[in-house]
Amino acid sequence: MNSTEIHTQYSTGLSRHNIEQALLAAGKDLDQLRPADLGLLEDFHTMGRFATSQLVDLLGISSEHKVLDAGSGIGGTSRFVAEHRHCQVTAVDLTEEYCETARWLDRLVGLDDHISVRQADVTELPFTAAAFDVVFSQHVQMNVANKERLYREARRVLAPGGRLALWDITSGKDGELGYPLPWADRPERSFLVTSDRLRETVQATGFTIDHWNDLTDQAAGVMQMVLAQPANPLGLHAFVANFSEKAENLTAALTDGRLRVVQGIARAIS
Ligand SMILES: C[S@@+](CC[C@H](N)C(=O)[O-])C[C@H]1O[C@@H](n2cnc3c(N)ncnc32)[C@H](O)[C@@H]1O
Repeated sequence: MNSTEIHTQYSTGLSRHNIEQALLAAGKDLDQLRPADLGLLEDFHTMGRFATSQLVDLLGISSEHKVLDAGSGIGGTSRFVAEHRHCQVTAVDLTEEYCETARWLDRLVGLDDHISVRQADVTELPFTAAAFDVVFSQHVQMNVANKERLYREARRVLAPGGRLALWDITSGKDGELGYPLPWADRPERSFLVTSDRLRETVQATGFTIDHWNDLTDQAAGVMQMVLAQPANPLGLHAFVANFSEKAENLTAALTDGRLRVVQGIARAIS
């Protein structure tokens, strides 16, 4: 998707305002905000913080690592990594509204000295070769038709031996999908491939696979639990339009296997 299509999919003009209202409704003091106060706002992907923390643990990130969050949304993963691993993180997203919201939240929780946010396309990254040790790519490739270009860019900006961490939705067994989904209001905005195809594309662009794990059953269970929870002001619905319908469609498709979710760590080879 180009930047206009991405803007149409994700921008509402209200992300910052609605998040501010949600934080106040949850009784948070914006002058004393800590990263943990942001709760369920932070992870715009299946299995939320479980998924992010599992990837961070698998990667063994330390304070010396230079980390890129490629397709960072409002910046939850970059804040988690900066807070818990004390490293410098660069966050890139094509949705300007999300970049602005990410900068504001980074300042509010006092992590802006560890995180820089840039509006850019993950298939055309504005960084020199070998600039990073770790690249995160969580729930972004579903919007990207040219996955080869996406992973070639990730490979280019990684130092040899650097790692690409993936948390992604792939296609599963046959069957029509219900829309809207969290990344696509309409089928034309979704570019799904099978997990095998995704793995082959990553391998073909200069990576060897260290870890590849299908977590569909676990993710379906967690999503069912999340949907059964009472309403909480600090949910993704605060800034994602029609989020409950999107989450229900995703959960139904994960539950019967029309969609799958894969966790991967790939290592950059020369
Ligand atoms: C479902 S959200 C996931 C956000 C974040 N990775 C997370 O897991 O919380 C998808 C994000 O990918 C971004 N995105 C999609 N295509 C992109 C591209 N070509 N370049 C940069 N960002 C992109 C969107 O703007 C959106 O913020």
